Amino acid sequence: MAPRVTFMGLGPMGLAMSENLLRYGDIEKPLVLYNRTREKAEAHSSRLGNCQVADSVANAVLFSDIIWLCLQDQKAIEETFQKILSTDIRGKLFVDSSTTSPEMVDSIAQRVSDGGGHFVAVPVMGGPPLAISRSLTCIASGDSKSVDTIRPYLEGVVGSNIVDLSGENPGAALLLKLMGNFLIMATIETVAEAHAFAETCGIGTKNMDKLMAAVFPRPPHALYNHQMLSGECFSGKPLVEVSKALLLTGRVMELAQKHGASVKIYEIAREHLKFVKDHEGPDADITAIYGAVRVESGLPFRPSRE
Ligand SMILES: NC(=O)c1ccc[n+]([C@@H]2O[C@H](COP(=O)([O-])OP(=O)(O)OC[C@H]3O[C@@H](n4cnc5c(N)ncnc54)[C@H](OP(=O)(O)O)[C@@H]3O)[C@@H](O)[C@H]2O)c1
Repeated sequence: MAPRVTFMGLGPMGLAMSENLLRYGDIEKPLVLYNRTREKAEAHSSRLGNCQVADSVANAVLFSDIIWLCLQDQKAIEETFQKILSTDIRGKLFVDSSTTSPEMVDSIAQRVSDGGGHFVAVPVMGGPPLAISRSLTCIASGDSKSVDTIRPYLEGVVGSNIVDLSGENPGAALLLKLMGNFLIMATIETVAEAHAFAETCGIGTKNMDKLMAAVFPRPPHALYNHQMLSGECFSGKPLVEVSKALLLTGRVMELAQKHGASVKIYEIAREHLKFVKDHEGPDADITAIYGAVRVESGLPFRPSRE
């Protein structure tokens, strides 16, 4: 029999993920929705149909076998689990897609296990547009049986692929998610420098684009190339706002410092994010790092359109 599922946390990510769970996941209907601000859950439920809004955290847990959370931050998760852990959680599986700290997630997973429940961490890579198109990368860790239980809801339902860490502590997924942020920021920084370099040398960004596509047949930088060369990094809908990226990059820097890792490219990318925030405001896109690199290279922040 399909499990009963609750989705808690209806920010931009949760809205898309819960809709895809309802539409594409093999779950018992209705999908239970819970959000701290109840009106958002009511509005989402009316739009989707086949949902039921829970009026408290306790009821959100009571009704379901699987409780999926996607909350803002560590504080939100700690406060919500305080309420969850005062209910009967025996046999229930908690899936957490919030980006929080590895240590806190391991501590909550232990408390859930002490209460007779199960816990899987599934932080995701990709913002709301990728969540809507079911293209998130889902990093899953926790005991193998629990990861197997939710596997059918990851690839093809809320996301397009899984980084499978089953058998490892839930915190491992959070650690890898922070490393994923390192990869993204370092790639954006490299792409921005390559294009500004090409422009200052006079060979131009179009030729750099050709070179990149030839050298890297499945280019990791294609998305950022498009953002920068189309100008969408300056005026389009942001992939991720610099204000959000600065919070996350601060945590990655703390992690690197704690372990003595040398992350110089990342430090530079973070300085460029700060530049973009000062120059363009908190809602500018992270790929506007291109503008910061251009200014340092003696070019105007925005390229003139050809
Ligand atoms: N957005 C992205 O690009 C992106 C990409 C990958 C991963 N993530 C991660 O996904 C998670 C959700 O992000 P998001 O962008 O969808 O939305 P968000 O604005 O970060 O989170 C919104 C949700 O958290 C709830 N919330 C906040 N504080 C709370 C508290 N103290 N107690 C209970 N609930 C609380 C909000 O409830 P109310 O509606 O009542 O405020 C809302 O449901 C975050 O951990 C984020 O880091 C985001």
